[in-house]
Amino acid sequence: MYEVPQFQFRTVSSMPHDAEKAAPLLSRKAGPLKGRIRVPGDKSMSHRALMFGAVARGETVIEGLLEAEDVVNTGKAMKALGATVDRDGSGRWHVKGVGIGGLSSPRADLDFGNSGTGVRLAMGLMASTPLVARCVGDASLSRRPMGRVTRPLAQFGTRFETAEGDRLPLTLHGAKNPVPVTYTLPVASAQVKSAVLLAGLNTPGVTTVIEPVPTRDHTERMLTSFGASISVTEKDGARHIAIEGRHELKAQHIDVPGDPSSAAFPMVAALITEGSDIVIENIMLNPTRTGLIQTLQEMGADIVLENRRQAGGEDVADLHVRHSRLKGVRVPQERAPSMIDEYPILAVAASYAEGTTRMEGLEELRVKESDRLAAVESGLQVNGIITHSGRDWLEVHGGGAPGGGTVVTHMDHRIAMSFLVMGLASRIHTTVDDSRFIATSFPGFTELMNGLGARMQPA
Ligand code: S3P
Repeated sequence: MYEVPQFQFRTVSSMPHDAEKAAPLLSRKAGPLKGRIRVPGDKSMSHRALMFGAVARGETVIEGLLEAEDVVNTGKAMKALGATVDRDGSGRWHVKGVGIGGLSSPRADLDFGNSGTGVRLAMGLMASTPLVARCVGDASLSRRPMGRVTRPLAQFGTRFETAEGDRLPLTLHGAKNPVPVTYTLPVASAQVKSAVLLAGLNTPGVTTVIEPVPTRDHTERMLTSFGASISVTEKDGARHIAIEGRHELKAQHIDVPGDPSSAAFPMVAALITEGSDIVIENIMLNPTRTGLIQTLQEMGADIVLENRRQAGGEDVADLHVRHSRLKGVRVPQERAPSMIDEYPILAVAASYAEGTTRMEGLEELRVKESDRLAAVESGLQVNGIITHSGRDWLEVHGGGAPGGGTVVTHMDHRIAMSFLVMGLASRIHTTVDDSRFIATSFPGFTELMNGLGARMQPA
């Protein structure tokens, strides 16, 4: 077995973000994409499997774990908090948990690299246990708002010292005598919902999150399979998720299916590249994650879900995708939570569609790994696409990308992958200024794409 600290991945934050070390990549027009592929395991489920395993009793075995920097950082953090975390082969990890309330103060800073999910969920997990932990991250994560999590967690009795503007680095002092909280989410965020529910795990009594707009529900589903006392009811159109604290969790065997947010890149690549016909196997199709597939199908995409089945408590299917003529559509704001990470790649698909695509309800894109609305719009514009935008909307005028531009990726993996996909069908190649952050979520992306027939190479 390998120890996590010796694991081969670097943490992103230890990577200096200077231009000299950047790894620019270019992508040029490719022949048809053909083949059957698998993409790495789902990121949301991978973070949660490590964290819930860390506070369960017994040994959790995870298969298909996403071995990318974001998730590896979560594994290291769980180890630093007292769990035993080992890898025994590709994607197969073992976590020996410490039980609810069993986490202890780490000896060094917890470094979450580039990952908002990692740090925000871990803050919830630690909040109701009397430990002290300093959380840090890379330059991108250190710009992102943490007040959305520290505010509800403070209601449990947790104390925080944060950098200016409720940002990282921050020191968390877990509550000695946590009190249960009822919290209505002010933003549609599964990370905030999950942080509050996880703080409820070691809090006596019932903690309730009221969710007016549904967001991804992996926390609820996976906590249920770990044996948590959790219930979900609907009242006046809102979901009420109640968790009764101080119930031990039982170790589980978890199979992590492929990440639909990673599958989105080869999927759009095949749709825009003439003659393509690919199958992406074993993709998780939780209904809170399928907004992109629905939108692309409305645009005329030929995506067929084959071999539908259940795995790891989730719907799973193989996605059969063929090159398609797309047309512009309006994407309503209610759909945003179910495709929140997919707007950059949808914008690329839209630039090859006939007509205009309008996307609404995008305010949360402003606080992702980068200001994604701004980064997407400038990436489209430098490649010759006409766009219009407002505070929370974007319009993309399709017709095909001339290309030829260099896209600034702002330490954002999804911006890098999206514009590499754009280059597969643009007249002149596209370039991204730095591809290093792709490793935070999709190790092997370029090799996998080139294996299908793409032409991505160092610039
Ligand atoms: C995630 C929730 C989303 C998403 C992120 C993963 C999760 O963030 O953007 O990539 O695993 O809970 P928000 O909940 O902040 O929208």
